[in-house]
Amino acid sequence: MNAPYSVSDYSHLVQRDRVHSAIYTDPAIFEQEMARIFHRAWLCVGHEAELPNPGDFRATTLGRQPVVMVRGDDGQVRVFMNRCRHRGMTVCETETGNARFFTCWYHGWVYSNTGPLQDVPGPAGYGADFCKDDLGLTPVPRQASHRGFVFASLAPDGPSLAEHLGPAARYLDIYMDASPLGQIAVTAGVHRTRYRGNWKFVGMDGYHPHYTHRSVLDAWRRRPGGNMADTHHGDPFADESGNLTRDLGNGHVLLDFLPGRSANLDRYLDTLRRQPQGEQYIQAMLDTYGEARGRELLAWAGDPHVGVYPNLQLIGVQIRLVRPLAVDDTEVLMFPGLLQGVPDSINSMRLRQHESFYGPAGAGSPDDAELFERNQEGLKADVEPWLHLGRGLNRERLEADGTRTGLIGDETTQRGQLRGWLRLMSETPA
Ligand code: FES
Repeated sequence: MNAPYSVSDYSHLVQRDRVHSAIYTDPAIFEQEMARIFHRAWLCVGHEAELPNPGDFRATTLGRQPVVMVRGDDGQVRVFMNRCRHRGMTVCETETGNARFFTCWYHGWVYSNTGPLQDVPGPAGYGADFCKDDLGLTPVPRQASHRGFVFASLAPDGPSLAEHLGPAARYLDIYMDASPLGQIAVTAGVHRTRYRGNWKFVGMDGYHPHYTHRSVLDAWRRRPGGNMADTHHGDPFADESGNLTRDLGNGHVLLDFLPGRSANLDRYLDTLRRQPQGEQYIQAMLDTYGEARGRELLAWAGDPHVGVYPNLQLIGVQIRLVRPLAVDDTEVLMFPGLLQGVPDSINSMRLRQHESFYGPAGAGSPDDAELFERNQEGLKADVEPWLHLGRGLNRERLEADGTRTGLIGDETTQRGQLRGWLRLMSETPA
């Protein structure tokens, strides 16, 4: 069967209520995703709080290109291409650590953690026109941040980060403002999932929990206090819950649990009060943010459940970064964020909640990974290649600000992500 698309026009693949499965299975489309999305759009590299001390670094990739995010001795966080200016070897060989200098193991060029080339072996072999000042580590073409979330783009031009985030920025604020200081520590490590499936399967699906996570939901119903269910009212994934799916534009989407959580706030506050010094945390939030905003932030429970397209998701306590490795191979990194300025008991409670669902022995995310792999397997049967994504189209609302809203189990989020995908894939690389 001939593919119903060309490498310059994908509009046929994403339609009003259906999507062609080639976008999850075709290696040629994956190559174009690398070029048009991951090597061009704003990607989240991480959070500055991962690097509390001068010299702290984490090496990662933007698409396929190796980079290192490092806090320099001057306190500034920068993202550099992880490539020696001599013959191109990576200069940072470990994923995380602390270094005043990055020394290339090939011929020994030495770079400071703020970027400049400090030293080369055998300097007498270079003439007077050799200028170390011109040969420092190469910064990513564009870097910007919002509330400590560090973003980078490999394209020299394009929309600003603020334009890219749009209404999604306020949900990064909600994540940070679960702390009365508006600050987090990202020092609790990371755990990761790698599954044999496409990267676009990850997250923001309010339709699947009743089936994929049925045993977890049953357990929530039976367990008293102190677990994630305590932040919710009744069944948070029921159409009648009042909870919503939102398409914020640019591929950013949200599972909005605020309606149900607001209805359940007093019960959740009782859960917080049962923690040692829990009342102190509640009062600190009200003192910092005022009664109305403080109660709203407490109802959010630091869980905006937002997907910032294409690679950042803030779910529960975690900063989740999605790394596509191949069309059918994806790694997901989950960094728990610890709230600053709160009693230890609050962070302990949040971590236990996180582990119960998302940890390596958690009751939730291993099921997701298994389903993603089965999904990828099923897509090999492509005699009928179209996937249905029409749930909730009959009741989706277009809001005055241009965002779209559906019920919690509606596929407003999937359609929003795919609109963002199509927009990025349709832009001509500079
Ligand atoms: Fe780095 Fe030669 S490639 S010093």
